[in-house]
Amino acid sequence: MIVYKSNLAFAKQMDEQDSLSNFRSKFYIPIQKNGEPHIYLCGNSLGLQPKTTADHIKQELTDWKNYGVEGHFKAQNPWMPYHEFLTEKMAKVVGAKPEEVVVMNTLSVNLHLMMVSFYRPTAKRFKILIEEHAFPSDKYAVASQIKFHGYQPEEALLELKARQGEETLRKEDIKKYIEENGDEIALIMLGNTNYYTGQFFDMKSITAWGHKAGCMVGFDCAHGAGNVPLNLHESACDFAVWCNYKYLNAGPGALGGVFVHQRHHTQNTQNTQNTQNNMPRFEGWWGHKKETRFKMRDDFEPISTVEAWQLSNPTIFSMAAIWASLKIFDEAGLENCRTKSKELTGYLLFLVESLDNEKVKVITPKNEADRGSQLSIQVINADKNLYHKITEAGVIADWREPDVIRVAPTALYNTFVEVFKFYEILKRII
Ligand SMILES: Cc1ncc(COP(=O)(O)O)c(C=O)c1O
Repeated sequence: MIVYKSNLAFAKQMDEQDSLSNFRSKFYIPIQKNGEPHIYLCGNSLGLQPKTTADHIKQELTDWKNYGVEGHFKAQNPWMPYHEFLTEKMAKVVGAKPEEVVVMNTLSVNLHLMMVSFYRPTAKRFKILIEEHAFPSDKYAVASQIKFHGYQPEEALLELKARQGEETLRKEDIKKYIEENGDEIALIMLGNTNYYTGQFFDMKSITAWGHKAGCMVGFDCAHGAGNVPLNLHESACDFAVWCNYKYLNAGPGALGGVFVHQRHHTQNTQNTQNTQNNMPRFEGWWGHKKETRFKMRDDFEPISTVEAWQLSNPTIFSMAAIWASLKIFDEAGLENCRTKSKELTGYLLFLVESLDNEKVKVITPKNEADRGSQLSIQVINADKNLYHKITEAGVIADWREPDVIRVAPTALYNTFVEVFKFYEILKRII
């Protein structure tokens, strides 16, 4: 166990020992007006640009220029199967089998597509369980699905709430809630890691409790992918969705990722009619078997993997950026990132707690297994001026009303010295 110290020399020593320290130079760090790099602690919102991204996108622009439509086959990385180039590396990042992972659309769209398949309400079982402080888009998505099926969100949308005076959910309370209410719940859909508190849920246990009660279980891993090992296959959840612009550094609005557990792949590959026994799915030509897709037949013959859920042909420029980023993750190794992330965030937690200020409260779980890189720091009664002052001092973090600063030192490009400097700025301003 590391014995943290609240001084610059210690932070420098940690950076010297950091086996991932050379990865920082692979990213563009935004520069302040004074020429110094920002202390960028916002990888939970938008990850930084890898220096290799431009070349990856440029390659596709060049091939488009030189080949036009023939680039689908003749490009250095042919566009026809382009999404497949990402699959193996992405599967590693989220802990899944390659046939369970595909990059397509964006997160909210994918969440809807997943609910088309996995939210199948009946008169007795029509509710969806989410967590309190779920990301608004998730809440809008589940509420609109509930209404689409003719139910009322007031009745059908359930929220897991923390105990009075607590910010995060206790594992035993989640279990009890599912045991007591599971027979009315069609779908459990939690944000993992939660965007507001930074709490990382134990997906394997929640999935097991949900399945025992007869519920489908899915996760929004926007704040988990590239941050914590998700082990999606082993968790046995039915589906997961995530975005690639946060910890996965693939640029603003980058395409998202989808996981559908292997056991669901064969359900509608035999029979193209979506009967009660066959899971419904919205379909498009890119989900059609590759060998016969261009025969342009009227009947839909689905691919026997998660790719069956694809609708459209791949968005090459965004995928090029995702590919650039995944190569860096592959080189660094997710486990190594997680080890460093625990140390960095552990150091931040140690420093914030050493402020010993009753107004400053970390609402993210203290136990490192229950969080990722992000710490949500509540500064009681503070207003957004606090955030503005931190920004003026060179930090890029983000603010969540009414009084929470979210900071996420990430393993690939943040340093212990930056964490220490952030602490000094916070201390001075508070
Ligand atoms: C937890 C979570 N869910 C959903 C979304 C929405 O993502 P998108 O705009 O890619 O649909 C976000 C975006 O930040 C998010 O953080």
